Amino acid sequence: MAKTAQLILDGKTYELPVVEGSEGERAIDISKLRATTGYITMDPGYANTGSCSSAITYIDGEEGILQYRGYPIETLAKNSTFLETAYLLLHGELPTGDELSKFTEHITYHSLLHEDFRHMYRAFPLRAHPMAVVSSLVGTLSTFYQDSLDPLDEQARQEHAYRIMAKLPTMCAWAYKYSVGHPFMFPKNRLSYSANLLHMMFGTPAEDYEVHPALSKAIDTLLILHADHEQNCSTSTMRIVGSSHANLYASASSAINALWGPLHGGANQAVIEMLQYINANEKSGRAFLERVKKDPDVRLMGFGHRVYKNYDPRAKVLKEMTRDVLEAVGTSNPLLDIAIEIEEMALSDDYFVQRKLYPNVDFYSGIIYQAMGIPVNMFTVFFALGRMPGWISQWMELHQDPASRIGRPRQIYVGENKREYVPIEKRG
Ligand code: ACO
Repeated sequence: MAKTAQLILDGKTYELPVVEGSEGERAIDISKLRATTGYITMDPGYANTGSCSSAITYIDGEEGILQYRGYPIETLAKNSTFLETAYLLLHGELPTGDELSKFTEHITYHSLLHEDFRHMYRAFPLRAHPMAVVSSLVGTLSTFYQDSLDPLDEQARQEHAYRIMAKLPTMCAWAYKYSVGHPFMFPKNRLSYSANLLHMMFGTPAEDYEVHPALSKAIDTLLILHADHEQNCSTSTMRIVGSSHANLYASASSAINALWGPLHGGANQAVIEMLQYINANEKSGRAFLERVKKDPDVRLMGFGHRVYKNYDPRAKVLKEMTRDVLEAVGTSNPLLDIAIEIEEMALSDDYFVQRKLYPNVDFYSGIIYQAMGIPVNMFTVFFALGRMPGWISQWMELHQDPASRIGRPRQIYVGENKREYVPIEKRG
């Protein structure tokens, strides 16, 4: 017999269905709650709310497990490329050699931007944050493909998915080029996804730019680690915008904006700024940690997570990678020493232990980006590049799911009750 939960309200007992996932996660299905009881549930921040069933990503935050389509993140980071992982997310299975070549060809084929985009960059102030530029331009893509934007058309969905994946590196690299006043570099289709990104960022027409294989490998791994993370803030944004049947570009542009915030993807920029501040002012992490513990407005950026109550498995991979990258570029970074010191102190400090605050994916990623010469305001842009196949897969899944409905939470109104309107001359 199917399991149910009992709810007793106003002396009446209601049976609520229990739903179980493939990894044993359980939920009480309250979708008929209001219709049968007149009550809704309150869950600010949706910490206890499942908004969909999904077969894409599994996280066990207590155990520190992250899997895409059943494959552990550590295995994918070690053995796969970013495009292989993107294929896995989008299509549900790892590609054969032939499928991967065709997929790579599709993505490579669409990497050029319409020439009109060059003018659009010039409309932004030079100091514009690249996340603002990239989210605007991704939204603008919808104006170039107006005839085929129907999100319910499966073939169109796939075409747009490949197109956005293909064009995003060019858009991101050009946002950087524009900010430093350099000429835009065209993509080189023979390069890998990550090598091409570095080529478009750091190459110039005047000189050949040799992409260091260790660096393009590091970028590839970073993109894999960021590729999906189930129903986080930006992915939920992608789904909720998509649930109104807004097109893929509009939905992805919104997700990029949600990612920008410092409590989400913007944390990688905030971590470096915090480490730089400590290095310049307090020199040691101890004094800063004490401040975090005393002042609720100061947070240890790159620490804590809504779901992980254990070490974020992505942070583990990144911590190991950090030294390799610093070695490859032949540099040391005092910020790494401060980060390691802070991590050690926090992991044995009661404040952080009791609240189960561990390093998250953003704690080490900024140090790696910085070592590679990626400017700080581009860190979150790299996060968006990595997350794009995850966002798209979630958006596709939404449109394939017969149970999906427009996203529309309820509220409990706590404002004024109905009152008389007072004409302006009689107020005060
Ligand atoms: N530094 C200090 N204290 C913290 C931190 C932190 N980084 N994170 C949480 N806490 C404390 C809170 O003050 C709170 O303490 P209290 O119980 O005494 O009030 C407790 O831990 C629980 O924190 P919440 O804010 O309720 O946790 P929530 O799940 O809502 O927030 C979040 C998660 C936003 C990630 C939070 O941990 C945070 O702000 N971290 C820093 C920003 C960051 O690194 N964000 C990146 C997350 S990963 C990603 O999005 C890719």
